[in-house]
Amino acid sequence: MADKKFELTEVSSGKKAVLPFRSGTLGPDVIDVASLPKEFDAFTIDPGFGVTAACDSKITYIDGDAGVLMHRGYPIEQLAEKSSYMEVCYLLLNGELPGAGQLDKFTNDIRHHTMINESLLRFYNGFHHNAHPMAMVSAVVASMSAFYHDTMDIHNPRHREIFAHRVIAKLPTIAAAAHKHSLGQPFVYPRNDLSYCENLLHMFFAVPCAPYIVNPVAAEALDLLFILHADHEQNASTSTVRLAGSTGTNPYAAISAGVAALWGPAHGGANEAVLAMLEQIGTVDNIPKYLAMAKDKSSHFRLMGFGHRVYKNFDPRAKIIRAACHKVLKSLGQTNNPLFELALKLEEIALKDDYFVERKLYPNVDFYSGVIYSALNIPRAMFTVMFAVARAVGWVAHWQEMIADPAMRIGRPRQLYTGPGKRDYVEIGKR
Ligand code: SDX
Repeated sequence: MADKKFELTEVSSGKKAVLPFRSGTLGPDVIDVASLPKEFDAFTIDPGFGVTAACDSKITYIDGDAGVLMHRGYPIEQLAEKSSYMEVCYLLLNGELPGAGQLDKFTNDIRHHTMINESLLRFYNGFHHNAHPMAMVSAVVASMSAFYHDTMDIHNPRHREIFAHRVIAKLPTIAAAAHKHSLGQPFVYPRNDLSYCENLLHMFFAVPCAPYIVNPVAAEALDLLFILHADHEQNASTSTVRLAGSTGTNPYAAISAGVAALWGPAHGGANEAVLAMLEQIGTVDNIPKYLAMAKDKSSHFRLMGFGHRVYKNFDPRAKIIRAACHKVLKSLGQTNNPLFELALKLEEIALKDDYFVERKLYPNVDFYSGVIYSALNIPRAMFTVMFAVARAVGWVAHWQEMIADPAMRIGRPRQLYTGPGKRDYVEIGKR
């Protein structure tokens, strides 16, 4: 509501100030608190940014209570059923679904940026064979800023477009190279006759000594997972990319900061942690023991893949992935996949437990995704890399939205200082 206002009163002095509300297209209004320091010599404080809007954005909308996720107004359920990852990338970057010619051109642009500089491939030889793939990917993505710095004017729209194409196109090649390095196998170059997800699977699993035919079921499953992981509003890794990018840094360096943030088990690293947890639980009989640990604060054990800062209802992506598990596992002849059976039982039992019900802890996007990655023979250590490949377009779209905004300012949060008051230096002999 345009005329909606918020009146703040400091009770002891009776001082009042009127703070303007701002309304978006959907979702809660926001209270503009910029005048608080002048009016009351005060900041707001919101550790974890649970109720703080950091920016305006037109890209993604989430309603956590209703379990709604939309990209540029299109419900995730419709995009999952009818779209493709390339089309969703175009939508996130450009704001509208592409026409046939636009999609062909975009797909072709991406396809012709999939190779990486041979010097980048040599970086992998510096990593130990058991280096975590996320460490390799974040390092190699950051090093792209060493190759693309003199041709990167962030205020040039064409440079920003080429940056977007390079990141989306090269992440699968960088990811596959990390996988091949960990196996001690030769790198496999991208092929222009394959689709985005076919190419990734080919670079992962092809070897020089035998032909490799991509399983279309696997490519389709990967495309769906990538659609579901493409963007998610102001999550931790996207907010990291925005904050790093707000300094004007090389955008490849900002993307590598997003990779680093995504790696944490509280965020994108959860998909790897879910598989480790399911393997640790082992059997349905052990579920009650692990649920008890998840409820015992002293255990530091959490039910990985459960809970979400925003969704206090089912994560719509988890529902779609759970349904896809049934279809993909059946197509791959893994109908009785023990991991999936255990995950289903764990969800069933947890969602009847008051602890999880009262805290509105439901399965999130990471709970079932690893079941499909495993079924595609993607190693657990690569799960978060797959998340990073898919989310790269979201990071780029948010970076572009921020850089193109003439009102953009460097992000610089404040604090509540609780340290010592002013005191004078004491010579060491008098301490
Ligand atoms: C992603 O932000 C995004 O959009 C992220 C993401 C994206 O697409 O970018 O959706 C991807 O990161 C999904 C989340 C993946 N992480 C996990 O699955 C890790 C397990 N989940 C949690 O650690 C936790 O639920 C978070 C981190 C996801 C959310 O943490 P919050 O919002 O800070 O919630 P909280 O820690 O304050 O928990 C509230 C209560 C606490 O208990 P009480 O203090 O009220 O007694 O719920 C408990 C927590 O102890 N709790 C859990 C739990 N998650 C929360 N208890 C057991 N197991 C869990 N998984």
